Amino acid sequence: MVLPPRTKTGVPGLDDILNGGIPKNNLVVVSGDPGSGKTGLCLEFLYYGVVKYNEPGVYISLEESEEEIIGFGELFGWDVKSLMEKNLISIVTVELYDFDKLKNTIEDEISRLKAKRLVIDPGVVFRLYFDRELDARKRILSLGRMLKRIGCTAIITNEISLEKASSLFGLEEYVADGVILLYHTKLEDRFIRSIGILKMRGTKISEKLHPIRITKDGLKILSKQELFEEVK
Ligand SMILES: Nc1ncnc2c1ncn2[C@@H]1O[C@H](COP(=O)(O)OP(=O)(O)O)[C@@H](O)[C@H]1O
Ligand SMILES: [Mg+2]
Repeated sequence: MVLPPRTKTGVPGLDDILNGGIPKNNLVVVSGDPGSGKTGLCLEFLYYGVVKYNEPGVYISLEESEEEIIGFGELFGWDVKSLMEKNLISIVTVELYDFDKLKNTIEDEISRLKAKRLVIDPGVVFRLYFDRELDARKRILSLGRMLKRIGCTAIITNEISLEKASSLFGLEEYVADGVILLYHTKLEDRFIRSIGILKMRGTKISEKLHPIRITKDGLKILSKQELFEEVK
């Protein structure tokens, strides 16, 4: 079987467990509980996208301000601001108003930067349509089609709670090409951050849970270790 072309995330260890990366122009949902590393992963995907692969990226932030995201990058020594000045990264903070307007903004911004990567964090905008599930699915499908048409690989984050396992499989996940789960696993007296791939179209994925380390250089996935091996 010939593998579809990949967008390498550049996040250390992640491409190993994704069999090379996210299939190009796919839409992936990253679900995780608070503090599990969703925002860090998104920023790292865009940052390394530019510095390792020369691919511009757009960050649609529905929660944190531009300053907060730039500050987050500084913790890891990433000069996001200078990449923004060079139009290699753009951070767009939008009010939650109208899905179609948001979609137009996304399309304009991608074409302005000739972006190959997009992040929507957190993807709460889709929750607004939860009472109209069919409508929401149609809209996300249309967003996914637009991204495929213009050639952009996207991550949308989804906030879940530790207790409510049922909320793991939200609306986005039915229409997404892939689902990555980040979460804190409780082991005796501590939490361990971990990652698992629930689905990824056209990809032989690792079925294991792997530990995540947050280092001074950013998130790193210990792709050669399994969660429970690591903590024995
Ligand atoms: N330099 C750092 N070293 C270690 N941990 C960090 C560092 N910077 C941030 N963190 C931790 O990373 C975690 C992940 O945060 P974040 O990506 O914002 O999670 P989420 O978006 O899933 O809520 C935070 O809880 C914070 O404690
Ligand atoms: Mg976040």
